[in-house]
Amino acid sequence: LPQHTNSWSKGKMIMYKYQDFWSIKHLIEGAILAQQSFKAEPSDVFLCSAPKTGTTWLKSLSFAILTREKFDESTTPLLTKFAHECVPLLENSHVVEHENIRKNLSLPLISTHLPYASLPESVISSNCKIVYIYRNIKDVIVSQYHFGREALKLSMEDAPFEEAFNDFCKGVSGYGPYWDHVLGYWKASLERPEKILLLKYEDLKSEPKSNVKRLADFIGSPFSVDEEKAGVVDNIIKFCGFENMSKLEVNKTGKINGSLFENRFYYRKGKVGDWMNYLTNEMKEKIDKLTDEKFDGTSLLLK
Ligand code: A3P
Repeated sequence: LPQHTNSWSKGKMIMYKYQDFWSIKHLIEGAILAQQSFKAEPSDVFLCSAPKTGTTWLKSLSFAILTREKFDESTTPLLTKFAHECVPLLENSHVVEHENIRKNLSLPLISTHLPYASLPESVISSNCKIVYIYRNIKDVIVSQYHFGREALKLSMEDAPFEEAFNDFCKGVSGYGPYWDHVLGYWKASLERPEKILLLKYEDLKSEPKSNVKRLADFIGSPFSVDEEKAGVVDNIIKFCGFENMSKLEVNKTGKINGSLFENRFYYRKGKVGDWMNYLTNEMKEKIDKLTDEKFDGTSLLLK
């Protein structure tokens, strides 16, 4: 496979191109295994995203929605179990290899970062649902940079942001090119709106209630009028919000077995527009121009 060593990573981050996306070795191995052997069920809900677009948040919200009859915010497993353990990543090779993914699922929720074109065939052909979350590209660049840097234990001085930015622009980012990732799901959602729901990180932030209700409706667990009156929607939004989640012990200190990534790396700032603290005017113009070109003729707004 074509290979790229990210210069900002001091040679520590090696990415490979498989099909049309870039990722790290063990996730590509997991993707291949999943493509060969994973069988989707019509009742499955896939939470799909490029890394750093709000996956953890979407997992917590979906989990809280589907388990609300059994648990409230003082009893939910999310208090002590990391969101990425509550909802596993399909291409985590261990999970797929040991065929444990379905056996260990408490709910039919599975996540993946795979682009639409690389999903296992049964995910496309079965009647399972897909929720895709996406986010302002400039915030994704900053978020991916910090996540990779922290995992590799590099300071900002050691890992020049500009180099990470340039790699991202060339398409060499987690499951990048990011534009293609978004375009794949966006196009599919136009063709199959009953199967694919698109949610935008910024919309979830600015209008959480209507978007969480859309999510619940789509995954087949709509809130009743009584539940809404009793504040169930508001409680889920508050519980799953950055303020609360980032303060939980499990999210401050834990780590999934064998993972490079500590749980706390998934909760950095949780803000819209942090890119303004990192991108120069020149970088902003470059990425906006690229985005205009890539999204020409679409209604997508990622700037
Ligand atoms: P920042 O690095 O900009 O803070 P993912 O879950 O796809 O890995 O994305 C991680 C990004 O989502 C990080 O962004 C993280 O802080 C943010 N995030 C995590 N939980 C969140 C929440 N409950 N609400 C809003 N943002 C959240």
